[in-house]
Order: sequence, then C-alpha cells, then structure tokens
Amino acid sequence: MSRLPAFAAPADGRLTPEMLAAYEAAGVVVLKGFADPKACKTLRDHTLALVERDAPAAPASVFSTTSNVQLTDDYFERSAANISFFFEEEATETGPKAARLNKMGHAMHDLDPVFDAFSRNEKLATAAASLGFADPRIVQSMYIFKPPGIGGEVVCHQDSTYLYTEPGSCVGFWFAIDDADEENGAMAFIPGAHKGPLRQLNARGADGKLATRVIDETPFDSVPVLAPAQRGDLVIFHGRAPHMSAANRSARPRHAYTLHMVDGAARWPAENWLQRPDDLPFRGF
Ligand code: FE2
Repeated sequence: MSRLPAFAAPADGRLTPEMLAAYEAAGVVVLKGFADPKACKTLRDHTLALVERDAPAAPASVFSTTSNVQLTDDYFERSAANISFFFEEEATETGPKAARLNKMGHAMHDLDPVFDAFSRNEKLATAAASLGFADPRIVQSMYIFKPPGIGGEVVCHQDSTYLYTEPGSCVGFWFAIDDADEENGAMAFIPGAHKGPLRQLNARGADGKLATRVIDETPFDSVPVLAPAQRGDLVIFHGRAPHMSAANRSARPRHAYTLHMVDGAARWPAENWLQRPDDLPFRGF
C-alpha cells in the first residue's frame, strides 16, 4: 500500500499553507512529532492504571464495526457522558484487560484531569483555529487499544456518519500512542474522497433506537493509502474522509488516542447518538 506524505509538526501548532493545502486536497494531513512522546507515554500509563482500576473483568460491552453490536446497547449510549470500556469481539473471558479491550470512551477529556491536559492545550487550540474552527467543541474522546492478535478490523467509514452536524463540521484528531504500521493496523485513507457525499447516517429513529441508513449509494472505489505513524504523530482528518484499519494480527499493540471536534455554530441534531446532559455540555479549549 502506498503511503500518505507527512510533515514535521509546526512548533506552535499553526498549520502552514502547505499543510492546509494538503489537508484540503486529501482530507487528511499527517503531522510528525506533534505531541511530546513523553506525554504520550504518560497518557498510556495512566490509561493502563484506569483499566486496572475501573474496567470490568469480563466484557460488559463489545465494540465492532463489522457487526455494530454496540448500537443497540445502553452501555454504549451512556458512554457519551462517562468513561466506559468496550471489549474486542474476539476477546477471551480471562487474561490481562488491556490485551482484550477495543476502546475506552467517550468523555475522558471532560472527566479525567490527565486526559483533559493532553486534549486541551495551546498547541492543539492553535491547530484547530488554523483549520478554520471559530468555536471548536471537543465532543468525544476515544482511547483505542487495538491489542496484539485480536485488534479488530475497522471497515471503511466516515466519522460524520456518527458525529453529524449541519453544516458538516466534524474533524478527527488521531494521536499515535504506539507506533502504527502496516503490520499492526495503521490507519488508511482514500485521499480526496472527503469531497464526495456522506454515504451513511447513524441516527435515532422515531422509536428512539439508533440505526444506520444509507443516504448516498456512491461506492468508495479508490485505493486506500496507508498513514503509518510513530508515537506523538498527529493525523488530522475531515469528517467525510473515508478511512479504515486492518485487524492487528501482529504481536504488538497499537494504542491511539482520538478527539473529535465540531463547530459550536453548527446544529447538533437530537438524533445523534452522542447526547450530553445539561451539566456536562460540549466544551472547547
Ligand atoms: Fe473513524
């Protein structure tokens, strides 16, 4: 698989015209060394401590993009406003928890001081402003484990399917916490395809249940390009950028931390899965 070009991260976070042009053309830009690797290691150690303390010993909920079992799950919906743990579909009933988890989410950035500090800083605020955010709101955080051997495949999708605003404003910020490459399930993108339509929308129906429906039949027909990353690298991608990652069949974990931002001026539908109570509103920096 060919690879996306990468830039050395700007020291102050402000994307240069070349970086912005790459983002606009491809819907994704890779910034090498954006975060301090030591801060990534601190976040990793902290997460493992949270897992040991708080994650259930046996699966309370499974997260899979192939079967979408979580979409009918109250535990999933409640995770909009707490810190929840989702197991891999192939997880065994016993063994180290971090080696069986798919992800932790979705409100660490608002509820945990270590995640808050990693997620809210001047450099990231500057990056968001340079991308055109007038009123950025961090709507969710996810720590992704992609454990050795069983880290599940993530099928090609667009994040605006799940984080929909009018007009569209969702942007993903993906930090490599471990090195990610072709062997352990690095992200891959279809460059330029964010200029096309949103294909699917996940929304709450009249019955109150979440369902994903096709809103545009246009296939994702181009060849994906790999975005390998090392600890501290940041991949910024458009909410309509189609992306995916292969299963991790290697012996190495592939931890990553993702934030999603939307613009406060855009409408956030009541039909979106992610709803916050009045005492925990979406916040910016
Ligand atoms: Fe995604």
